[in-house]
Amino acid sequence: MAAQQTLILVKPDGVARGLVGEVLARIERKGLRIEALEMRTLERTVAEEHYAEHTDKPFFGELVDFITGGPLVAMCVSGDDAIAGMRTLMGATNPIEATPGSIRGDFATLIGENIVHGSDSPESAHRELGLFFPGRF
Ligand code: RTP
Ligand code: MG
Repeated sequence: MAAQQTLILVKPDGVARGLVGEVLARIERKGLRIEALEMRTLERTVAEEHYAEHTDKPFFGELVDFITGGPLVAMCVSGDDAIAGMRTLMGATNPIEATPGSIRGDFATLIGENIVHGSDSPESAHRELGLFFPGRF
């Protein structure tokens, strides 16, 4: 068990559908802490840097269009094994495969509109938190 910090996003589809409170409640009920929270619409350059690992994927353009298409809510979430804990709360990337009870399992059907983002490793968390909350974490 390790104390960790992770970057969580309620993506534009989650904000548009009024699911911010639902996502925040699940994080807090789990016992994780919201250390910082901001609503913003991403610049394309920030989105391209955030998703840099996917630059060569066929869906990269759509992914950047989607994530910049409206306001999102960015958070730093902390707690015991927060990175894996949040990935479990979120469910599988493809909502059709996500376990009922998870955020994606309960609220989504499309891989491209899957409500939430969570960092996938300590290295990603460090990089992504630096991008969204420069100098703070
Ligand atoms: P995220 O980064 O958003 O938390 O999602 P993830 O780790 O579960 O999935 P990742 O592999 O990092 O993919 C990032 C986002 O790209 C979209 N995607 N579309 N059309 C496709 O085949 C496809 N594959 C991935 C998803 O919205 C995914 O969340
Ligand atoms: Mg990812």
